[in-house]
Amino acid sequence: MNASSDVHAQVLEWIRAKRDRQRMTREQLRKLMDLYARDQVPEYQMAAWTMAAFINGLDAEETLWLTQAMLESGSRVPETGSGKPRVDKHSTGGVGDKVSLVLAPLLAACGAEVPMISGRGLGFTGGTLDKLEAIPGLRTELSLDQIRRVLAETGCVIAAQSRELVPADRKLYALRDATATVESLPLIVASILSKKLAEGLQALVLDVKWGTGAFMQSLPQARRLARFLIQVAAECGLPASALVTSMNQPLGLKAGCSVEVIEAVETLRGQGPPDLVQLVLALGAEALVLARMEPDLPSAQARLKQAWQSGQGYEVFARMVRAQGGDLERPLPVAPVNQWCSPAEGYLVRIDTRLLGELIARLGGGRTRLGEPIDHSVGLEMRVRLGDRVRRGMPLVRVFAPPERFEQVVPELEKAFVLDEIPPAKVPLVTFVHRQEPSP
Ligand code: URA
Repeated sequence: MNASSDVHAQVLEWIRAKRDRQRMTREQLRKLMDLYARDQVPEYQMAAWTMAAFINGLDAEETLWLTQAMLESGSRVPETGSGKPRVDKHSTGGVGDKVSLVLAPLLAACGAEVPMISGRGLGFTGGTLDKLEAIPGLRTELSLDQIRRVLAETGCVIAAQSRELVPADRKLYALRDATATVESLPLIVASILSKKLAEGLQALVLDVKWGTGAFMQSLPQARRLARFLIQVAAECGLPASALVTSMNQPLGLKAGCSVEVIEAVETLRGQGPPDLVQLVLALGAEALVLARMEPDLPSAQARLKQAWQSGQGYEVFARMVRAQGGDLERPLPVAPVNQWCSPAEGYLVRIDTRLLGELIARLGGGRTRLGEPIDHSVGLEMRVRLGDRVRRGMPLVRVFAPPERFEQVVPELEKAFVLDEIPPAKVPLVTFVHRQEPSP
């Protein structure tokens, strides 16, 4: 037997173990992730193991070990020597979620260092990297040395996982997307925390989304994920809080790559939609307090507002974009606009936000296969919010797309908006906050 058939036989055993609901050891998970990251495990075997883990689950200890194994598959973000506290936030994914583009530079303007390792679009959710790359010339595939330089120069960086940084997550993330194994609590926890631990953070704030446009559709499911994330983070020695927030409609008004960057820039320049501003301030304040940069949430909010209203946040963003090769002077590509109007009257009681995310992907703004190019120019702009009273013929959404592609998604638009005679109950944007128990 040669080395490669040994590996094949060993992985087969681990697939059987998970299929038969057996626990795996720390050493087995470490070996599996190491071999996979070094391209020693074929995708068909990894797909089978991932599905077995999805169906039968991993317990808390296995999830911790998987997180550490994924972290150890690569290097860490190098120190810059700035002495600033390192903080970050990560979202479980939604539609129109451009918080990272606004919050990373704002936190940097408040004196933190923000080494944000981000993802690409996954399923119906948009990816921060894809959005940023709508800016002409901007690169997110950076070497560790480039990451360190941008971070030292501007205080923040938004970059991709790579062959150096958490390579196991980079591969597994794409595999899960193609094998319907995204919505698994242990796999989400390990994926998010392995990336964040590689950043060498002092504080992490998590935005756990629930609702029609989130992986976790129900509030109890999202709260379970939030508790699981902060528990595993604590076991890894990382101070973390989780805000459970509503994703029952797109965040802000715009969704799609270019249009979200435009909305993020407008926000940094002082004109953002209220829900986006509220969430940026809530997550940012939590991060500043957790990193002990501010004593309490009101003073943290005041510091963030000062950085925002003075334009310092925008200046940091512009510097970061330049340092990553982007040119904010050149216009972002935006496709022609088409309007979709309401065929009926009533209160807007439900938005199928996932369907809107899928619709953007179908227009070309998302991937159905790994490595596919993305059309940054397509997207949408909401003209109504949940609870609004809608009249027949009133515009509900503007869709940025070539007209022939717009025609193809009209049937989805017809299903995405639900009207009723009775107004819906109001759902708070920040629905719960979960914090770690203070250490004794
Ligand atoms: N974000 C991640 O980084 N990983 C997941 O699995 C889901 C959301």
